[in-house]
Amino acid sequence: MLSRFAKRSFSSTAAANYKVSVLGAAGGIGQPLSLLLKLNHRVTSLSLYDIRGAKGVAADISHVPTNSKVEGFTPEDEEGLKKTLTGTDVVLIPAGVPRKPGMTRDDLFNINASIVRDLASSVADYAPNAAVLVISNPVNSTVPIVREVFKQKGVYNKNKLFGVTTLDVLRASRFLSEVVGTDPTTERVNVVGGHSGLTIVPLLSGTKHKNIPQEARDALIHRIQFGGDEVVQAKNGTGSATLSMAQAGARFAGAVFKGLDGEKDVIEPSFVESPLYASEGIDFFASQVTLGPNGVEKIHGLGELAGYEEELVNVAKETLKKNIIKGQEFITKAK
Ligand code: NAI
Repeated sequence: MLSRFAKRSFSSTAAANYKVSVLGAAGGIGQPLSLLLKLNHRVTSLSLYDIRGAKGVAADISHVPTNSKVEGFTPEDEEGLKKTLTGTDVVLIPAGVPRKPGMTRDDLFNINASIVRDLASSVADYAPNAAVLVISNPVNSTVPIVREVFKQKGVYNKNKLFGVTTLDVLRASRFLSEVVGTDPTTERVNVVGGHSGLTIVPLLSGTKHKNIPQEARDALIHRIQFGGDEVVQAKNGTGSATLSMAQAGARFAGAVFKGLDGEKDVIEPSFVESPLYASEGIDFFASQVTLGPNGVEKIHGLGELAGYEEELVNVAKETLKKNIIKGQEFITKAK
């Protein structure tokens, strides 16, 4: 007979039983992200797919002694994507090329749009009910691409599609703590809008640090918006953020699992189909989202904004609208 303790721990983990797929798993983000997912006790099956190298990454990670099975697939495997995706609850997509110095995220569109389109098409075929977490840039456009592909296949569920903006949230916590001299683990900043330059809007007025002098505040906002460039420049042509992004992706995926598990008050900012500015033709917007058993449970409004934040949101909306339409039309106007 099981001891009381064993019985209790068995029942509390029984619900946490997720198959997770990573598409682009052998890349700079994909490898550490897969490792972090291997360490999450809610993941019981981890499927890694990449056009190259996924088997090696899977074999390597599979030796970590946690309770999940790891498999790796490449296009050489017959029905590799089907095997990867079938039965998946959560799919993360970090496939595609990263930035080099001088590039904006939008410059990646020409290559990454078709990569994301094709992967989304397979997700729609083999894991139509999965929560889809898009990391590939430009997120402001790749998320709308996934929506259009899913719509065309008749499987779109707005509550299950997320653009991962968590890295902006991590940077905001870290950079704010450096300015005000606090412990970054205690700082939570809501970052809204989108995931590129001026579309990234940290809402510092919602933190307890309301009296940062304007010059320092402007510099802080700029650093949060363009923090990715620091990494791109430091890596000097070999890529963009990978390790901090893996941590961000694992944190967001962890929040999605908690929501699926029925935990209450799981809230993270994310770029989702949103009613907030839909009347202005902006179908997607990042804001705080409560995650639940069916994905998005509630999309939070921005709350009261300082005057300068309203201006930042207005600036963000202009670019966002164009980015979203560009992604949408890549599918709807394709010849
Ligand atoms: P990487 O080049 O190191 O890795 C990308 C991986 O995708 C490679 O292993 C490649 O073989 C694979 N890949 C390419 N086409 C594929 C396909 N059709 N199917 C499956 N796998 C495919 O790039 P890295 O640094 O990992 O970045 C990946 C993406 O994430 C980039 O688009 C980058 O801009 C984006 N990114 C997003 C962030 C965010 O905050 N959302 C932050 C940092 C990067």
